[in-house]
Amino acid sequence: MKVGISNDHSAVDLKNSVLKHLEEKGYEVVNYGTDSTESYDYPIAGSTLAKAVLNKEVDLGIAICGTGVGISIACNKHKGIRACCCSEATSARLTREHNDANIICFGARVVSTELANDIVDAFLTTPFSNGERHKKRIAQIHQIEEEQ
Ligand code: RB5
Repeated sequence: MKVGISNDHSAVDLKNSVLKHLEEKGYEVVNYGTDSTESYDYPIAGSTLAKAVLNKEVDLGIAICGTGVGISIACNKHKGIRACCCSEATSARLTREHNDANIICFGARVVSTELANDIVDAFLTTPFSNGERHKKRIAQIHQIEEEQ
């Protein structure tokens, strides 16, 4: 599986830690974020990753800013992106199963390196359940996007 990762200036260390963790597990990881602690706006970091997911350059994405909130809002502005901001692994698993989320977001000021690894492991190893009720709700989300 090919995974994209992106981050703003507040999440360089956590991005590098997650990236190393995933490469050790055998994932191919593409780094779309900044490697500098100079100010780098989270809407740009999120949008770059969202476009890569939509263009199928990568299968799934990981987006990290200070809280995970700003970057998730930016990702979710892209039609077809379902980005989940969370701080624990259960939500990361369920957002794949129920929402077919294609980007997971969290905050470098919120989660530890260990928790970040648990979150990405849960997210990347869980398939969409493909249940009819979940497919119906995702179709409703697409409908909302079409109405904009
Ligand atoms: C940047 O200082 C900070 O605002 C950003 O990383 C994020 O937390 C926004 O939601």
